[in-house]
Amino acid sequence: MNILLLGSGGREHALAWKLAQSALLAGGGTLFAAPGNPGIAAHAQLVALEATDHASVIAFCAANSIGLVVIGPEAPLVDGLADSLRGAGIATFGPSRAAAQLEGSKGFTKDMCARAGIPTGAYVRVSALPEALVALKGFAIPVVIKADGLAAGKGVTVAETREQAEAALCEILSGRFGEAGAEAVIEEFLDGEEASFFALTDGATILPFGSAQDHKRVGEGDTGPNTGGMGAYSPARVLTPEIEAEALTRIIAPTVKAMADAGMPYSGVLYAGLMLTRTGPQLIEYNARFGDPECQVLMMRLDSDLGEILLACAENRLAAIAPPRFSDDTALTIVIAAEGYPGTPAKGGAITGLAEAEADGAKVFHAGTALTEGGTLVAQGGRVLNATARGASVAEAQARAYAAVDLVEFADGFCRRDIGWREVARETPAAG
Ligand code: AMP
Ligand code: GLY
Repeated sequence: MNILLLGSGGREHALAWKLAQSALLAGGGTLFAAPGNPGIAAHAQLVALEATDHASVIAFCAANSIGLVVIGPEAPLVDGLADSLRGAGIATFGPSRAAAQLEGSKGFTKDMCARAGIPTGAYVRVSALPEALVALKGFAIPVVIKADGLAAGKGVTVAETREQAEAALCEILSGRFGEAGAEAVIEEFLDGEEASFFALTDGATILPFGSAQDHKRVGEGDTGPNTGGMGAYSPARVLTPEIEAEALTRIIAPTVKAMADAGMPYSGVLYAGLMLTRTGPQLIEYNARFGDPECQVLMMRLDSDLGEILLACAENRLAAIAPPRFSDDTALTIVIAAEGYPGTPAKGGAITGLAEAEADGAKVFHAGTALTEGGTLVAQGGRVLNATARGASVAEAQARAYAAVDLVEFADGFCRRDIGWREVARETPAAG
């Protein structure tokens, strides 16, 4: 079978690396990736396709006998690419436009949680400033203000004062995020530790697909501005089997049922951002895709055939397959970003040393790289590389990942030196 993977980041490099090992490709099948990146090119044939041009993607699939399309990022999902592909009879991994509202609209998700009794922070949806300021008075401080739509991870403010909350509402409702700002959600602040939980579902069957924790802030000690994630590790040991079971029965399963009942069955990976509060796990948000860089650590631990699993999901056959198997090892990934990130990152910095960095079993996934005409690998984005390694403990995975980082030559790059600190502290007996 031929497979088409859509996307170009570190998440897609990790997916391409695992898909390239799939038995689905046995007997001469080809993995295509669009647009891909220089790292993905080692595992897939790159094609120039715009995910926004549904007709071209469908035509490519028909011309190349594509048996499975895997959609990596959220934008094409929210844009309805999965609907177009399924409409053309092409097996597709990723939710419909209607189901992707779980990521595309915070208000939609909060309303669904309210209807289904899913534990999450109290909230109000607002669309005009005067009513928003009145509604805000009903919330304690800190309070969380969110733009309703996709805002590339920049639409959330955890306000420590009323003035900050008012300013955030002002900014969103005055249109700074374009269409995404037409509406906002005011939300109760939840206190606890965050963890990410992944589940595959075809709309009926649910298969847990691992857990992770990431570091969103750019600076060491979890300080400074938010980013798309500076590093992650899997599993998230704070998500104990008991808490995971509770998240499944009280959050994931009612969501899958509510979506099916509403006539918009969810098919794909459901990525739940959870707050582990003193009263149990609560939903912070859903994403309709794998996390980036969480996917990199999940793929590093996945022992099962990714292609078989994603195809079974796309074909509503999850009930018939063996549950995915993950290694007991910890995997940890460190994001190497270009100077300036998350502001304006420096572009064009030369990168070498990747083969040396991978010599000891680590994987360096490409997140934002390009090849110059002369064949030099250079930085082309904020998050540039993901040095990823496995170990029997978090400390071991961390040491191996940093050993890989230290072999990468990238003068314009920087990374946090403390990825995994919470877990390392937990697994190290307290001194004295
Ligand atoms: P989101 O884009 O919804 O994941 O929000 C980004 C980050 O804001 C989350 O990872 C949390 O750290 C924080 N956050 C969002 N909602 C809440 C909440 N209700 N209580 C506390 N922190 C939150
Ligand atoms: N790393 C966070 C995300 O993918 O949304």
